[in-house]
Amino acid sequence: MPNAYQLMSTEELDALIAQLEEKTDEIRARKLSLDMARGKPSAEQTALSRPMLDLLTSDTPLVDGNGIVDNYGTPDGLPSARRLAAEILGVEAENVIVNGSSSLNLMHDLVANGFVHGIAGQKPWYQQGQVKFLCPSPGYDRHFAVSASFGIENIPVPMGADGPDMDVVRELVEGDPQVKGIWCVPKYANPTGITYSDEVVRAFAALKPAAPDFRIFWDNAYVVHAFGEQDDELLNIFAALEEAGNDNLVYEFGSTAKVTFPSSGIAFVTASPADMAEIRAAFAVERVSSEKFSQLAHVLFLRDLAGVQEQMAKHAAIVAPRFELVERKLTDGLGELGIADWTHPHGGYFVSFEGPEGSAKAIVSLMKELGVVMTGAGATWPYGNDPRDTNIRIAPTYPSLEDLSSALDVFVVVVKLVAARLERASR
Ligand SMILES: Cc1ncc(COP(=O)(O)O)c(C=O)c1O
Repeated sequence: MPNAYQLMSTEELDALIAQLEEKTDEIRARKLSLDMARGKPSAEQTALSRPMLDLLTSDTPLVDGNGIVDNYGTPDGLPSARRLAAEILGVEAENVIVNGSSSLNLMHDLVANGFVHGIAGQKPWYQQGQVKFLCPSPGYDRHFAVSASFGIENIPVPMGADGPDMDVVRELVEGDPQVKGIWCVPKYANPTGITYSDEVVRAFAALKPAAPDFRIFWDNAYVVHAFGEQDDELLNIFAALEEAGNDNLVYEFGSTAKVTFPSSGIAFVTASPADMAEIRAAFAVERVSSEKFSQLAHVLFLRDLAGVQEQMAKHAAIVAPRFELVERKLTDGLGELGIADWTHPHGGYFVSFEGPEGSAKAIVSLMKELGVVMTGAGATWPYGNDPRDTNIRIAPTYPSLEDLSSALDVFVVVVKLVAARLERASR
């Protein structure tokens, strides 16, 4: 179906462009300085966790079950922190390691381990020729940066409304032994905000990889990050693996980066018992045991899954109005034109925006000119190469509602102008 601009006469289109250019001149004169670039919680959100800082004092008992907090030991993490992480991910605590403050760091360590040392009794990846990782796109730029940093070839895989295209994934994973991994954010994906359907999760669990050292990097970063009552249900990948009679296939990650403090949360990984034995051995070379004061503080503060959910409801109260504002502004400004599309997530940190073909770079660049920083166009694709140049990641959590509102008003004008210019240029 033709969009509203395609239906306009050239005279009408020229008049519209002139009118929108006038608006952008007005905006430019306001010398805005707004940031919609990265998925970070706002100061109001991080303030929710400040009481955690009062829970560790010189009088706090520094023991946790058989764990000693103020000395080496319990390299898998404090028992109570492992229980908390296991509850968040819905897995067995004995298969969880809590380590450090960044899940991305754990992912990097495990890619490095496969690359340098090898896993599952296979040669290190660096000795196996050109290895590959699958990158459902649009996806998380920092995932793609990890594999790219080792010279691993990142292969884009189409993302749909219910997860990656599993026919493409199956063909590549089962047909090509050079494929060693796939990056997944199965719930409230970065940036589309979609949650993988049961069918997609089951298809992942049923994979029969050509490479015995292939692993799914299941980054469940947004597992508890719903905005409200309507929380998407994600099938537990380990339950699906059991159902499929499959094993040693998934590394699952999580962290409290967006529950408590980004870069000062606790991070965790879980996998099959055999994979955990390998991971434990790899980590044992890296450090004696991990930082435990933060683990203790998190357990004292969050207690259990119910405590986490309580905390997340407070985040939701702050975050939900921002996502509602994005939906309202985009619908009011662009809804009836048919020139763009965007996602309507129930949780997570992002809205994924699809403009007309060939528009994303121009939109982000004009936004910058007008004083609004957005995530770079193309960042959601491997090597920054969005082949149709359509995808823009909107990150609404960090700015104030007022700033977000101004930024979205600018965005609507800019999208219209770029789309109108593209249509004009095509005539
Ligand atoms: C999908 C995803 N995974 C991981 C991270 C980073 O997590 P961490 O701070 O635990 O390294 C982010 C941060 O934006 C993310 O969006």
